[in-house]
Amino acid sequence: MSDYFLNSNPIVLEIGCGRGEYTNGLGKLFPSKNFIGVDIKGDRLAAGGQQAEAMQLTNVAFLRIQIQFIEDFFLPNEIDEIWITFPDPRMKDRDEKKRLTFPFYLEKYLRLLKPDGIIHLKTDSSEFFEYSLAQFQAYQLRSLAETKDLYTSIWNEDHFGIKTRFEKIWFDKGYTINYARVENKKEA
Ligand SMILES: C[S@@+](CC[C@H](N)C(=O)[O-])C[C@H]1O[C@@H](n2cnc3c(N)ncnc32)[C@H](O)[C@@H]1O
Repeated sequence: MSDYFLNSNPIVLEIGCGRGEYTNGLGKLFPSKNFIGVDIKGDRLAAGGQQAEAMQLTNVAFLRIQIQFIEDFFLPNEIDEIWITFPDPRMKDRDEKKRLTFPFYLEKYLRLLKPDGIIHLKTDSSEFFEYSLAQFQAYQLRSLAETKDLYTSIWNEDHFGIKTRFEKIWFDKGYTINYARVENKKEA
């Protein structure tokens, strides 16, 4: 990725980014980091890309792939942070393998992340949240933050005031926002 951005700044991924509100929002806030939004839906990525151009962001990119192939695009230990923003919960038993925190995916993220790299998860779905926390625990990731109501929690500042499209939809319907942050380091 240093070939693309022509620098060796930290790299942050947004997984299932849709229109990439975090990719662009954080890109503006942190010019000394690189941000890449990853999704399969071209129309959503195009909207994110147009927004990035309008904001004149040179530290932002979008990658249209199925996330199952993400290891074809990044090196092990290359990524500093991953944001997983409002993934489809897929709570039917038969869909577990499609959840973006299913071990198949989580293991990929952990291989790409630096040893002290960070995963952030934001979701409206309390069921998906509980499922994901259980996965994080199973991989002994160190918990840095965990709340079922981000906006009234002590971590309210940590989402940088960025609301994604799906976040707005669910928040306006009265859902609270679940947020967790874990570190790629085993619990003692
Ligand atoms: C509910 S939307 C959330 C979009 C955005 N993060 C937001 O909060 O507005 C979930 C996104 O994940 C993407 N997605 C789900 N599974 C994927 C996969 N296996 N590979 C690539 N993208 C995927 C979908 O295309 C969709 O844009």
